[in-house]
Amino acid sequence: MIIRTVWSGVIGVAMLSGASVALAAGDAAAGKVKFFTCKGCHSIPGYTNAYPSYHVPKIGGQYEPYVIGALKAYKEGARKHGSMEGNAGSLSDQDMADIAAFVSGFEGKKQEGPVTGDAKAGKALAGKCASCHGEDGNAPAPNFPRLAGQYESYLVKAIEDYQAGKRSNPIMQSMVQGLSEEDIKNISAYYASQVGLSVVE
Ligand code: HEC
Ligand code: HEC
Repeated sequence: MIIRTVWSGVIGVAMLSGASVALAAGDAAAGKVKFFTCKGCHSIPGYTNAYPSYHVPKIGGQYEPYVIGALKAYKEGARKHGSMEGNAGSLSDQDMADIAAFVSGFEGKKQEGPVTGDAKAGKALAGKCASCHGEDGNAPAPNFPRLAGQYESYLVKAIEDYQAGKRSNPIMQSMVQGLSEEDIKNISAYYASQVGLSVVE
């Protein structure tokens, strides 16, 4: 409450002075408290969501702007997922910024998950993804998600969602258009078998 008041004061002053405030700065300590309801799904290694047959994504190692963008996408309907739409729906912009500041301090995705695809074949396909996601899936720029060390089953699901239009992002929808089912499996196996870095090493 106090933090919220202080922030609106700061933003008010910034507006009066003519500065542009694109994003409220996140407060990691406040984010830790707000993350309480998320912990059951996002803090248990190897947790598998009950209904679909894929792992809940690891969110460690993701940059703040990407986390905020993902939460907004659920809230605004650009990403469809029952429980995440519910979880993000009630978050304010400040809540999202605080949570993102907290989770971006999580460790990267160091432990490898099991892969079923052919990571070597996947690497050969991943060349055209490197400019944004990094050669090994550790995206260098904060607007791009890190794929390294993410669960293979989640990566497969994410790519299929772009292809099916369930996740609407024009860049990614065009990037994955031509991939076959096998390509998707292999490319996911490649990224899943890489070591994910932390945002702050
Ligand atoms: C019931 C389990 C559950 C709870 C609780 C939950 N999540 Fe999620 N979360 C998921 C699943 C499953 C996905 C992947 C959904 C999809 O396919 O888009 C996800 C996706 C995400 C993503 C996107 C990850 C990426 O790589 O794009 C973020 C960020 C996230 N959740 C943050 C949160 C936050 C913050 C909360 C609490 C406010 C929360 N989640 C609560 C299950 C959960
Ligand atoms: C021009 C930049 C760009 C290129 C090239 C690109 N991507 Fe992406 N990718 C993005 C952006 C931006 C997002 C986040 C979009 C969103 O919010 O849904 C993303 C998201 C993803 C996600 C979802 C990650 C998550 O945590 O949910 C996967 C998987 C992915 N990309 C795989 C690929 C693959 C495979 C390729 C190559 C065939 C590729 N991308 C090429 C920019 C790019």
